[in-house]
Amino acid sequence: MTVLSGYDPARVTAGGVAGEVARLAAQAALTFGEELRILRELGLPERDPLVDIGCGTGEVTGRLRAACPGLRVAGVDASLDLLAHARSRGIPLAGGSAGRLPLRSGSAGSVLLRYVLQHLPAPDPVLAEARRVLRPGGLLAVVEVDEALWGLAQPVFPEIEVIHRKAALARRGTGTNRQVVRELPRRLRRAGFTGVVVRPFAVTNDQVPTDSFAAHLGPGQFAPLVADGALSLADLSVAAGVWNRFRADPDAWVLLLGLVIAGYAPGCPDRTPGRTT
Ligand SMILES: C[S@@+](CC[C@H](N)C(=O)[O-])C[C@H]1O[C@@H](n2cnc3c(N)ncnc32)[C@H](O)[C@@H]1O
Repeated sequence: MTVLSGYDPARVTAGGVAGEVARLAAQAALTFGEELRILRELGLPERDPLVDIGCGTGEVTGRLRAACPGLRVAGVDASLDLLAHARSRGIPLAGGSAGRLPLRSGSAGSVLLRYVLQHLPAPDPVLAEARRVLRPGGLLAVVEVDEALWGLAQPVFPEIEVIHRKAALARRGTGTNRQVVRELPRRLRRAGFTGVVVRPFAVTNDQVPTDSFAAHLGPGQFAPLVADGALSLADLSVAAGVWNRFRADPDAWVLLLGLVIAGYAPGCPDRTPGRTT
């Protein structure tokens, strides 16, 4: 099935596709360790293939292969621009829609959907495809953020909160839904997944330099919205000023929060302690 997407790599951040490639790399570097820890806690089956749906540049696909040498990984993505950056990683890749995966039923031990569902106005067909390609008991892991639960920062700059609210409104108009995470536990259950769990993870600038959070706190995220007319140049200038004051403050603190929503394809005995169906 054709699945519409609100995602255009040329219009996510400053610098067009090149800017997005850099943003995806920074985002993976920041939180991959936490995500891997959770995948392992959830029983990532390292002997069966993992399919990274919406793998983009393959940042995380490549990191998974390096961290789990026995794990066969493959990526599927609709963006040929981003897949071109993944090719050098030597990972099996396919261009294609998340709603119609070029994969046999029951052929995957796990499926990863990382920051993909927030771009899809209709996530259910993609969850159905994930279930189809998973073997019984296979793991589906969705990594997402929520716009109202993105994290914490101190000091607080009220002027940036206004800009974030305007940006959130504008993004909704493009088909992006950064509140999709709240619907996912129920959507996974309705799609037939069992043992649905939510695992939060957090990273702070006690662990990594403040500049590692540029993609989340910096002004680049607002540049395409200025080009669209949803934000003004004055908004962009305020965002840049706030970010510069924040990163120059030795006492500034930031915590970024992410969520893994996971479930298991039906047809296999429970493998995770304490999980409910
Ligand atoms: C924010 S990027 C995340 C990329 C990668 N998962 C990561 O975490 O680095 C979203 C990705 O989803 C892909 N995507 C969006 N809609 C899609 C669809 N309908 N079918 C396949 N891929 C899709 C985009 O092309 C893009 O690579």
